[in-house]
Amino acid sequence: MSKIKKHNKISLKVIGDDRGSLIALESLDNIPFEIKRVYYIYATRNACKRGLHAHKKLRQMMVCVHGSCKLLLDDGHSKEVLKLNRPDEGVMMNEMMWREMFDFSDDCVLMVLASEHYLESDYIRDYDNFIKKVKINNEG
Ligand code: TYD
Repeated sequence: MSKIKKHNKISLKVIGDDRGSLIALESLDNIPFEIKRVYYIYATRNACKRGLHAHKKLRQMMVCVHGSCKLLLDDGHSKEVLKLNRPDEGVMMNEMMWREMFDFSDDCVLMVLASEHYLESDYIRDYDNFIKKVKINNEG
């Protein structure tokens, strides 16, 4: 069964006043995991794709805090492309979700919150291998 559902998108509460806007992200509150790492992707060349991997265990939430890009999510059964262009919208990605980010605007800043420290052995960087692992998990 497909894991990709609309509720992958999380609406983030904007605290606004006449000075502007503010959004707060808190572990185990509006972020459904303990945040152990934050990184951001910026100055991405327009024709470039990033991501092109899945994670065995890692959970992440992506927020396009400035500009825009597209995000392809693929759980091995179905694919969905989301446009990210709102600082008040997060996209949750659980484990075993292949992702590709592309169509970056020049000013795009894509922030990612992660449930674990960086661990290369948690990556699945080969798509065929990803599909094999999805099938094994479904059988088990
Ligand atoms: P990678 O995850 O492959 O980028 P993409 O988002 O395009 O999939 O990471 C690119 C490089 O940065 C790679 O050498 C690993 C390194 N890196 C870290 O050192 N720490 C991190 O938290 C991340 C996300 C990447």
